[in-house]
Amino acid sequence: MTNDARALWDAEAEAFDDAADHGLRDPEVHRAWADLLLPLVNGRGLRVADLGCGTGTLSLLLAAEGGHFVSGVDFSREMIDRARGKTEKTIPKPVFIVADAAEPPLSAGTFDVVLSRHVLWAMPNPAAALRSWIDLLTPTGVLIVIEGRWHTGVGLTADTCFQLVSDQRKNVQLRILDDPSYWGGPTSDERYLIISPS
Ligand SMILES: C[S@@+](CC[C@H](N)C(=O)[O-])C[C@H]1O[C@@H](n2cnc3c(N)ncnc32)[C@H](O)[C@@H]1O
Repeated sequence: MTNDARALWDAEAEAFDDAADHGLRDPEVHRAWADLLLPLVNGRGLRVADLGCGTGTLSLLLAAEGGHFVSGVDFSREMIDRARGKTEKTIPKPVFIVADAAEPPLSAGTFDVVLSRHVLWAMPNPAAALRSWIDLLTPTGVLIVIEGRWHTGVGLTADTCFQLVSDQRKNVQLRILDDPSYWGGPTSDERYLIISPS
């Protein structure tokens, strides 16, 4: 992690939620993500780690609509300030920590779900980051990684990401997220979700 990277994300924070999939302000986009994630984070009142949580949109969704106990981690104070502001009245109220998601300062073996959207690609060592994320899971915990390879050339291909997770987990499934309702319109990017139950 470098201070440069952190400063770049700090600068993104103010307008971050303007993107349809970031702010989930459009009810159709919001519904698409709720319909995708709530059944995957099965049950209520689970312990969820949202790593690289940004402005906390998914943390808010999972706490408010799933009743989950969410710990969000992001190294950008500007992102975390917005996440805290958004969830001030949410029950159960998510807890947000300013820290490096490559080695999250959370208790190993205590999370039912570790979720991360659009963060692994930015990790200097994705395999090592994944290892520390998997360490957070209980023996029956579920890893959910949402990633992409953007038309700009930035990101991880589904093949690469699938392999990274498969190197460390036995049960790994890939789902392509090509429905425009997730993104507020059609996209030519490669977007997908990888889920690894125990
Ligand atoms: C594309 S945003 C995704 C935010 C959120 N997960 C979402 O889907 O709305 C990437 C986020 O990862 C955070 N991030 C990048 N590298 C990080 C690191 N090493 N430690 C913690 N957070 C990091 C950035 O600050 C930013 O908030």
